[in-house]
Amino acid sequence: MIKKAVIPAAGFGTRFLPVTKSQPKEMLPVIDKPVIQYVVEEAVESGITDILMIIGKGKRSIEEHFDRNYELENELAIKNKEEQLQEVRKITGLANIHFVWQKELNGLGDAISYAKHHVGREPFAVLLGDTIIKSEQPLLKNLASIFERYGDSVVALEEVDPAIVSRYGVIGGDEIEKDLYAINQLIEKPKADEAPSNLVFAGRYIFAPEIFDCIDQTPPGINNEIQLTDAMRLLQKTNKLYGHRFSGKRFDIGNKLDFIKTNIVLGLEREDMNGDLKQFILNLAKEIS
Ligand code: G1P
Repeated sequence: MIKKAVIPAAGFGTRFLPVTKSQPKEMLPVIDKPVIQYVVEEAVESGITDILMIIGKGKRSIEEHFDRNYELENELAIKNKEEQLQEVRKITGLANIHFVWQKELNGLGDAISYAKHHVGREPFAVLLGDTIIKSEQPLLKNLASIFERYGDSVVALEEVDPAIVSRYGVIGGDEIEKDLYAINQLIEKPKADEAPSNLVFAGRYIFAPEIFDCIDQTPPGINNEIQLTDAMRLLQKTNKLYGHRFSGKRFDIGNKLDFIKTNIVLGLEREDMNGDLKQFILNLAKEIS
């Protein structure tokens, strides 16, 4: 069973400036919860009990969000706001949450290397802190069950428009069963004509602990950063690496348009607002069409 997860959340969020000047992108609200809480909830629903967040400068509000706030709890208790009190208390009870600080922003691979000591020699999950996945079952749970079956690292893959593959880590491989690939090629942000496919890493991974040794041996790659994809390419030389093409939607909150879409899609699922929101969208669609 995979019990430990790592959530990298140290980046500056430059694609979402100016709001990210003083506010971590992982703390941007989708309806009424910060993005990173959705990520933690997916991990917890997948069986994770221990989470290490890799954070950096300006990310203190993430720590505060997952810490208890006794003053607020007292206030809510005195005012008999039971529902909000449970909501606030639930956050700290989700999992054992730990933090470590990435000293310099040297890439995703470098960020994950900060988890080496905490994780030890056991398999673990990685969930990008700025990515919400909407799928029937929690995506990480699907990856965990593939890991149980095959006993080797497995990552989530998404099929994207070939025109935009250069934004992602891209794989090549053989489909060994429906939606499951044995990966044999990995390139981070290739040019469109050099990409082996349009299957890209989608922000959820389960790794054997050997990934840490591979990161240690990985030189800086594209953008002069230690890329997780480059470390995975080394891992794939000695261990098997599987890719699961998931069905569902990935929302990259670092991207402004995705952020707006996420609020709408998840808002339409909320009982307390879906009727009004749907009506608003229908009226708006008439106005602008
Ligand atoms: C990172 C990974 C990339 C992956 C992407 C998914 O890139 O390096 O392999 O496809 O996340 O969002 P970034 O978005 O940090 O440039």
